[in-house]
Amino acid sequence: MKKLKVADGIHMLTMNVEDILFEGIWEIANGVTLNSYIVQGEKTAIIDGVIGWDGIPETLYRNLEEIGVDPKNIDYLIVNHMEPDHSGWISNFRKIKDDFTIICTDRAAKMVASFYGEDKIRVVKEGDTLDLGKGKVLSFHPVPNVHWPDTMYTYERGTKTLFSCDMFGTFGRMGDHCFDDELVPEEIDFFEFEGIRYYSNVMTTFTPSLIKAIEKAKAMGANIIAPGHGPVYRKNPQKIIDDYTRFSQYAKGAGKNEVTILWGSMYGMTAKAVDFVEGILQREGVKYNKLEMPKVSHSEMVATVFKSAAIIIAAPTYEYNLFPPVAAALNELGRKKITGKVAFRFGSYGWSGGAEKELKEIIERNRMNWNFIESVEFEGAPKGEDLVKVEAGVLKLIEKMKDKVVE
Ligand code: FEO
Repeated sequence: MKKLKVADGIHMLTMNVEDILFEGIWEIANGVTLNSYIVQGEKTAIIDGVIGWDGIPETLYRNLEEIGVDPKNIDYLIVNHMEPDHSGWISNFRKIKDDFTIICTDRAAKMVASFYGEDKIRVVKEGDTLDLGKGKVLSFHPVPNVHWPDTMYTYERGTKTLFSCDMFGTFGRMGDHCFDDELVPEEIDFFEFEGIRYYSNVMTTFTPSLIKAIEKAKAMGANIIAPGHGPVYRKNPQKIIDDYTRFSQYAKGAGKNEVTILWGSMYGMTAKAVDFVEGILQREGVKYNKLEMPKVSHSEMVATVFKSAAIIIAAPTYEYNLFPPVAAALNELGRKKITGKVAFRFGSYGWSGGAEKELKEIIERNRMNWNFIESVEFEGAPKGEDLVKVEAGVLKLIEKMKDKVVE
């Protein structure tokens, strides 16, 4: 666990978490950080929490002491969001201190009680404040459905620090550099992709609420944005606001100037056409990503499709339906409400089609509103005339994606 000063009277405790499935689902190849913040006036508050790898309260105790905080003097636990990656430490904390007040929204209060049996809770509403003394005044600002209904921002008025919890967070472990002004270009790119992975895996279903939360953050004019995951933005908080604004557009069909080929092949017939398409994309100078299902994790798949301006689906018919790993991927994208992509599908069949029927069913059932170029299906291996049609489809897709590019 690292301890860092964010501003006078404000510290961050941060730790990397690896080798977990985030939310029990998402394989996070590059880990994630959990960030907790301590605000000290005459009274002391902890905003969200981390306790350390060992889950032992004494470890937290030691870390707090090292930044000059006596855990016995902690008066308030501010729960911006009840998901246990931020709140799971409460029961452990109680082992070292038992007379604290939890501060949270009404929606969170119900869950704090049901998850942890806590009942000393102050429920806050929009604009409520907590004066810690020595100029440290916190105000509270619900941002419901980011991404749970209970979530709120906490804002420290003196330093204009926005504690945004999941909002403006990213996946990705942090090394020595935890502030935006310390990041080298490779780390900026790393956290941009990990931000996309985080937004698309965890948050994107709730994009309409996230857009409201972006607007709320903009109106606050924070000097520092301190999220619950990933770097703290103290030099240019507008950067992460702009990134999240762009991500919200990716959720609705925009994307980077790149194509993603979401594909699977049983015995290499569809794969032959994928190879052919790669040649076209290279010839046309179009950047592309290849995701072979089911070899790629759904975390990687959702993030990569999400950030792309155009999608090629290459998948055969399997038992009168769409090749199941590709169908599962599309269902996941539908569940995440990733809408409005321009797309093109081709694929092989043996004795009967059926892939196309299931593709349409998935897109319609999930109201994905993807804009498809007419599909190309071929019997067995793709022949010359099939490849001519595939090339025409790819060229149409490249033309159509131009309207979707937002970098
Ligand atoms: Fe980082 Fe929704 O928890």
